[in-house]
Amino acid sequence: MDPRLVRFAANLQAPGTTDVPFEAVLDATELPPGALRRLTRGDRDILLAHTPNGIVATDDRCPHMSAPLSLGELDGCVVACPLHEGRFDLCTGDPVQMPTTGGLDPDGIYHPTWTPGGREMKPDVPGKKAEARRLTRVRRLRYYPVRILDGRVEVALGPD
Ligand code: FES
Repeated sequence: MDPRLVRFAANLQAPGTTDVPFEAVLDATELPPGALRRLTRGDRDILLAHTPNGIVATDDRCPHMSAPLSLGELDGCVVACPLHEGRFDLCTGDPVQMPTTGGLDPDGIYHPTWTPGGREMKPDVPGKKAEARRLTRVRRLRYYPVRILDGRVEVALGPD
């Protein structure tokens, strides 16, 4: 395993990406440490990130409500979503801070809505929206296999 890449758990590999060809997507110098880049192929948006543990490719969709994580802030391995304060560990695939809207974590455990420090709590009016928030599950990230060959970052994206 190339030490320049994040080693992700086998069960978190994106479906359909086993035994598919790798595709060169950018020069490794275009993804310096700390960089987040969006890559679009067809209707898919992929996030390439260079974390302290190495390079990783995952969907450029927040696992909460699909906001582009490439617009977030990377702090170590953790990317902060530009919406709802959710934070996700790009090196493990786990949420490390649930969104302000609360909901279900990847294991189906409920987390209530919350408000960032200093702001007043909004009342969670019962109804369909509150129910939707309660049942929205934040899943773990899924990973695309990555390799570095001849100075190029290559990703196995699989079929659209
Ligand atoms: S869309 Fe990212 S935390 Fe809600």
